[in-house]
Amino acid sequence: MSNQTAIPDHIPQDLVRDFSFWTAPDMAPTPGGDPHLALSELHNGPRIFYAPNNTRDGQGTWVLTRLEDMREVLQDSDSFSSYRSIFSSAIGESWPLIPLEIDPPDHTAFRSMLNPLLSPKRMAALDHSVRQRAIDLIETFKDDGHCEVMSQFAFPYAVSIFLEFLGLPQEDMPKFLNWANSLLHPKTPDERTKAAHEVIEFLDDLAAFRRKTPGDDFVTYVVQAKVKGRHLTDLEVRGMNILIFIAGLDTVAAGIGFDLSYLARHPKDQKTLRDDPKVIRKAIEELLRAFSTVQMIRTARKDMEFAGVQIKKGDLMSCASQIGNRDPNEFPDPNRIDFTRNANRHMAFAYGVHRCLGSHLARRELISSLEEWHRLIPEYRVKEGCPPVAHGGFVFGVKSLELVWD
Ligand code: HEM
Repeated sequence: MSNQTAIPDHIPQDLVRDFSFWTAPDMAPTPGGDPHLALSELHNGPRIFYAPNNTRDGQGTWVLTRLEDMREVLQDSDSFSSYRSIFSSAIGESWPLIPLEIDPPDHTAFRSMLNPLLSPKRMAALDHSVRQRAIDLIETFKDDGHCEVMSQFAFPYAVSIFLEFLGLPQEDMPKFLNWANSLLHPKTPDERTKAAHEVIEFLDDLAAFRRKTPGDDFVTYVVQAKVKGRHLTDLEVRGMNILIFIAGLDTVAAGIGFDLSYLARHPKDQKTLRDDPKVIRKAIEELLRAFSTVQMIRTARKDMEFAGVQIKKGDLMSCASQIGNRDPNEFPDPNRIDFTRNANRHMAFAYGVHRCLGSHLARRELISSLEEWHRLIPEYRVKEGCPPVAHGGFVFGVKSLELVWD
């Protein structure tokens, strides 16, 4: 094993596996690789194992393979904590992204404050502009007969909706696209640090501006809101603004990338969506299940026995939606993509108190993008000699996807 962290004494040797969501076969950027299929193999193995090189903060993690166990961990924040400061520690600071990196009872207070902002009703009001963003982008390459989906459609689409949500002009797009790229896919650690400082400065300035000049947008709401009878501190406002920026970028872009990558290689399913757009809503749930992207990690708050093994306080528990959603105990024939699948209670948006706050917006973005794509683009396929490239990580994604149509 390379680069592995020390294996704590309480971990039985027979439960140690050479595994990582970043580098295992088909999870490193591999042309044509299928990381979800590779992960589904884990269901033939133990219920839980220890991966010293699946690291966070220089520590390996337990990896759960059964959805039922993941649900238990994610729903029990008394035993398993979300507390961390991954984003800020990368720039030598220690404030959490809110509400993602905090636990109840604080989490409950902040989450209640944010819930109305991303409610189904409020998101429905965004429908027209979300759809228009998809149309405007598709129009830019439709007549070319080809496009690279991630850079020409998926990322600009996710960023443009974030800009709209924050009440920022679309002219800010190139700046935010660059920051998104440098934060999520940096070529060097310095590139990420520089982008992090720049985004923080921009969003801090925006918060200061909105305190003086209120608008009808997310940042104004946050700076005016009260939690536990007081206004938010500058660091709390920052923790929320940064989270809203990064939470909906990679996730939505990856969703679009995996969905179009699958559909380009499965013309029959593609035809179904084109011929009967009503199917898209249900299809999205199946695609969210089959191509889930987020690995969640929790920290054990105490020594305990879980899934038949001894867990020590401080151990990290990886609950990956990519694995849980291919669990054959929950989803019959899990590697088959079936748009008519019923009782599709997938965990793409997690369980428990941290269940995705943006799921209504995310669904709206995915549905509008696939509806408009199939309305405007004729039958499409992967460009010959350019297989899609997927990558692993905390959030799985698509690095490149070249599509062509006649
Ligand atoms: C397909 C797209 C998306 C997927 C698959 C997704 C998935 C997830 C998952 C799995 C979590 C839980 C993380 C954890 O517990 O560690 C989460 C949390 C969160 N997501 Fe999403 N997400 C998506 C899009 C969005 C969008 C568009 C937004 C909004 C702007 C958003 C905002 C959030 C926030 C604020 C949290 C933290 C919630 C909390 O801690 O209470 N997400 N998301």
